[in-house]
This record gives sequence, structure tokens and C-alpha cells, in this order.
Amino acid sequence: MPHNEALSYSETGQGTPVVLLHGFPLCRDIWLQQRQRLSDRYRVITPDLRGHGQSPAPTGVYTMDALAQDVLALLDALEIKQAVLMGHSLGGYVTLAAWKLAPERFLALGLIDSHASADTEEGRQGRYQMVEKVTARGSQVVADVMLPRLFSPYLDIENPIINQVRQMILATPTAGIIGALQGMAERPDVTGQLPEINVPVLLLAGNKDQIIPLEKAQAMATVIPQATLTVIENAGHMPMLELPMTTTMAISHFLNTVVGK
Ligand code: MLT
Repeated sequence: MPHNEALSYSETGQGTPVVLLHGFPLCRDIWLQQRQRLSDRYRVITPDLRGHGQSPAPTGVYTMDALAQDVLALLDALEIKQAVLMGHSLGGYVTLAAWKLAPERFLALGLIDSHASADTEEGRQGRYQMVEKVTARGSQVVADVMLPRLFSPYLDIENPIINQVRQMILATPTAGIIGALQGMAERPDVTGQLPEINVPVLLLAGNKDQIIPLEKAQAMATVIPQATLTVIENAGHMPMLELPMTTTMAISHFLNTVVGK
């Protein structure tokens, strides 16, 4: 029986539960502005995934199923039978794994700058090389490699969100970074699962995403039966921080349409 990690999380507001999962190697704080606004109408829960933020960071490979089981265990602990689950990037991979494990638990899903494919062989090798570098030199290496690609190339280099994200990456335990890199490298292609998703799915993506191109969301929109594709113009991989109001409004509009208040 795999061991679930008890996740650290924030919870604000009342109403239909809306769970927002962050990406790699970040933490719940990326959702701060969305949490504040959406909690007027919803019970917003933002966990830190295993190995990130304030959650436990065991050694070992973090498979997408293990990360999803942690989220399902959190829903159990909060006595939530059904929720809306949305994930950014790695959080989106976890969202799809959670759907596969327990589709009855979800009213709607959201994939934010995410996709359903496995890594290419080149991508997988890149992850293992990064594991070696992080083992030798710590999380600083990931910050240096990822930061230039996380935002729209047009983002003002003085924008404080860049340093904010750098601090989040630096604060992520190396065991968490390594576990997530190995888990992402091993993750299966779940594209075949997309036509079976029988709840509404928000596909939200920045058109300047340099990590997961917009075409991924456009392709998923053609095979997910109840997909809503929303493109955030001039945002990169981090629309919730680059254009927080636009992102919140897109999520809010989707929630209003699919679950109401
Ligand atoms: C993320 O933003 O969660 C990761 O960059 C996703 C990935 O590396 O596949």
C-alpha cells in the first residue's frame, strides 16, 4: 500500500470546493491572487504538492499517481466528496492522474499551461541530467535554467514576480525537485484518456508559453468533449502571476458557467 503524504494547504471561502495545484518546482503561493478573489464565491483550497512548499519532501520517485493520491487523501481529510480540480503544468499532469484514479470525485477540471503527453526521449534525458546537477549543486541550478523560460519574453525584467518565483524555486527541497523530475520523466502519455473525460475542462494557456507551447492546449481542445480553450494573450508559462486579473477572470467565468455559485 503506497504511503500518502499529508499535504500542507491553504483554505479560504465557502461554497463548491475548487482545488488549485501549482507547477514544478513552485508552491501554493503562485495562486495567492486567484485564491483571494475566487474565495468570495468558492471554497478555494491550494495545497503544496509533495516535495514542494511546506509539504513533506520524502526521497524517491514522485509518480503522477502518487502525487494524485496525496491530493485525493487531502479531499478525504477535508471530507470533500466532489471538487473542481485545476492544475498548472506539473499540477495539470497530477490533475489528469487524479481524474483517472477517481473520476467520480470531480465536477470539472482545469489544465493551465499543461498537456497530456509524455516526455520526448530528449526531454527525459534532460530531466536525468538535471537530477545530477541538482544532486551536485542544489536548487540554484533549476532556478538558473528555468527562470528565463518561465515568463513571456516581453515581461519587464524588473518585474518583482521574477524574484518571487526565484525564491520559490530556491526554497524547494532538493529531494522534492529530484522526486518530481524523476516522476515527470517516467509519466505515461495520457492523451488517449482525454476523449473519456465527461466533465467540463478549462484549457487555459499563455500564447507566449516557452515551456509548453499553446499548440498543446489547442490539440487537447479538439479531443476533450467539453473543453473550453482560453488563451491569455501576452502571458508565458505563468499567467496567474504575469496577468493575474485576466487569469482570475477566465477561471471565474469558467466556474460560473459550469458549477455556478
Ligand atoms: C512545470 O512548470 O510544472 C514544469 O516545467 C512542467 C514540465 O517540466 O514538464
